[in-house]
Amino acid sequence: MTPITLKNLRQWKLEGKKFASLTAYDYSFARLFAEQDIPVLLVGDSLGMTMQGHDSTVPVTVDDMVYHTRHVRRGAPNVLLLTDLPFMSYPTLEQAGHNAARVMQAGANMVKIEGGAWLADTIRYLTERAVPVCGHIGLTPQSVNIFGGYQVQGKTEAQAEQLLNDALTLEAAGMQLLVLECVPISLAKRITEALSIPVIGIGAGAHTDGQILVMQDVIGITSGYVPKFAKNFLADTGSIALAVAQYQRHVQDGTFPELAHSFKG
Ligand code: KIV
Repeated sequence: MTPITLKNLRQWKLEGKKFASLTAYDYSFARLFAEQDIPVLLVGDSLGMTMQGHDSTVPVTVDDMVYHTRHVRRGAPNVLLLTDLPFMSYPTLEQAGHNAARVMQAGANMVKIEGGAWLADTIRYLTERAVPVCGHIGLTPQSVNIFGGYQVQGKTEAQAEQLLNDALTLEAAGMQLLVLECVPISLAKRITEALSIPVIGIGAGAHTDGQILVMQDVIGITSGYVPKFAKNFLADTGSIALAVAQYQRHVQDGTFPELAHSFKG
């Protein structure tokens, strides 16, 4: 794989070429995903649940993110690598700068932060200091204790307008990529069309520029509750490599996600 950059993602958006991405937390899976030409990997703070067994992402620390980012980078030297800044690691500009530097020096190409228009100053601050930022709006799991659970966001017209406004404000502040989680398919389409930067969806329907899934969901080792937007690609393929290849193919040809994996407004 030749090194993937944000330039590639922007070009794919212009060409209408869909791309698949996955979370990764260790060397072996990162290498397997890179061998299947998955261009974008995320060291997600979902590792608090998938790797550590917590019931939310809240306990995850910057040390955890640095540790996993180092190992994923070794397995996948050429992917565009995003790393989450975890819960309360960016409440001030200085803390955001300090913690972003730590994950970038561990191997990330970009940091991801969760929240709306109130993050505009943080995005401007990081971008001016050479840290590219991916935003994350809709269902933002770090806010689970504010939401009181993991519910679909943006269902009313007022909430939809708010999310669209958040996306536009963050793009104007310098955000270069956006993750949109668990919003109605029509809203995801509106936001994807309104932004010139690439938008990656999870539980946001088929109209976003890219898709992301938590790797455990793709290979069917999610414990307990399986989200509506997840699909076990291993069930039909019989090997992890083939499951990942099929996920990638189905995203590229628009057959994943189906309506059954999406939410209505
Ligand atoms: O932490 C994570 O894995 C994420 C994805 C669900 C997008 O943020």
